[in-house]
Amino acid sequence: MAERVKHGPADLAVFGGTPEFDSPLHVGRPNVPDPERVLKRIAGALESRRLTNFGPLVREFEQAVAEVAGTRHCVATSNATAALQVLVAALGLRGEVIVPSFTYVATAHVLTWAGITPVFCDIDPDTGNLDPAEARRLVTPATSGILGVHVWGRQCAVESLRELAGEHGLALLYDAAHAFGCGYRGRGIGTFGDGAVFSFHATKFVNAFEGGAIVTDDDALADRVRALHFFGFDSDNHVIGAGINAKMSEASGAMGLTSLEAMSTVRRINAEHAERYVAELADVPGILVGTPGPNEWNSHHFVVLEVDADEAGLDRNRLAAALLAENVLTRRHFDPPCHRVEPYRSAPDRHVRRPLTRTDLVAGRIMQLPTGTGVTGDEVGRICRLIRMLVEAAPLL
Ligand SMILES: Cc1ncc(COP(=O)(O)O)c(C=O)c1O
Repeated sequence: MAERVKHGPADLAVFGGTPEFDSPLHVGRPNVPDPERVLKRIAGALESRRLTNFGPLVREFEQAVAEVAGTRHCVATSNATAALQVLVAALGLRGEVIVPSFTYVATAHVLTWAGITPVFCDIDPDTGNLDPAEARRLVTPATSGILGVHVWGRQCAVESLRELAGEHGLALLYDAAHAFGCGYRGRGIGTFGDGAVFSFHATKFVNAFEGGAIVTDDDALADRVRALHFFGFDSDNHVIGAGINAKMSEASGAMGLTSLEAMSTVRRINAEHAERYVAELADVPGILVGTPGPNEWNSHHFVVLEVDADEAGLDRNRLAAALLAENVLTRRHFDPPCHRVEPYRSAPDRHVRRPLTRTDLVAGRIMQLPTGTGVTGDEVGRICRLIRMLVEAAPLL
């Protein structure tokens, strides 16, 4: 298709111009690996009649995930939410757990389902992650753990949180749903805390249709997790506790393994797109594209744009609406943050309903842009040009 050229604001779709793209560009459009390899693996599972319950594909997937994560153990699960439920139970969490509100609702809901009070902690606005100084102020005799979230694959303040957890004898676990293939100071991100959880949902960097995993270096915790994700059955077939069914199927293992094979290609494409967004938007006022900090490596699965409305002349919501008119579908991870949705918004507990000014500020300014194998470099360039034009046209919008 010949490239559409927008000469001025009148050509923008918000002013009645033709949308830049004929069909929608999405954030999180699945990175689909070689279909033939997926189908061959699934055919093998069908032939052998090993469809689930720790078949060879899931075993192989677990080993490969542990290798990338840098941990001794990996237990693959049906999704990350179930993985978090299992890990919370295996660590014996109760009472209160300190957690960011700036996360996907699943993180908080897992605590609520376990009868635990999520104590929402504000974030460091530079990283979007738990502020350890604030977390320290929230520790009470009822606190049993800290649940950090490596938002957009950027690691939490792992050293400070480890110190805090150690001082108070708290469990420290991480929701690393965004962070597979990321790391910090030469260590895979799964190695921080007592245990961590990845998501292999279809929209993630590596996907298993639906899937998740719990990784840990703690042998006893790994045994407990393995039992609890299988109704509580341990390796001797004794039920050791109230487990659930969070197993990964062989079909998901087939997809997960094939997706892992494509990981380095997807990472390279993501990195190229991220570089292009950073370079092409560098001089657009009020628009900042997030980049990993020093000593971090990232899958670049998320391209995060921060909009400073005063400088850009338009706020995040108006920019998102104008991009939508051009068929660019952005996302707002995470807006609204957890404390602004039910049941937390109406919770009687003062810890759940604390003011979280930095969380609200960041949630109101960020958006994610299309990346991954679902968009081309040329399309990324056109999205950048649109953003530049929209900021220039801001006084008219
Ligand atoms: C931070 C975070 N935690 C947990 C989840 C839940 O993952 P899953 O869909 O695999 O259950 C998500 C989903 O995107 C997430 O973003």
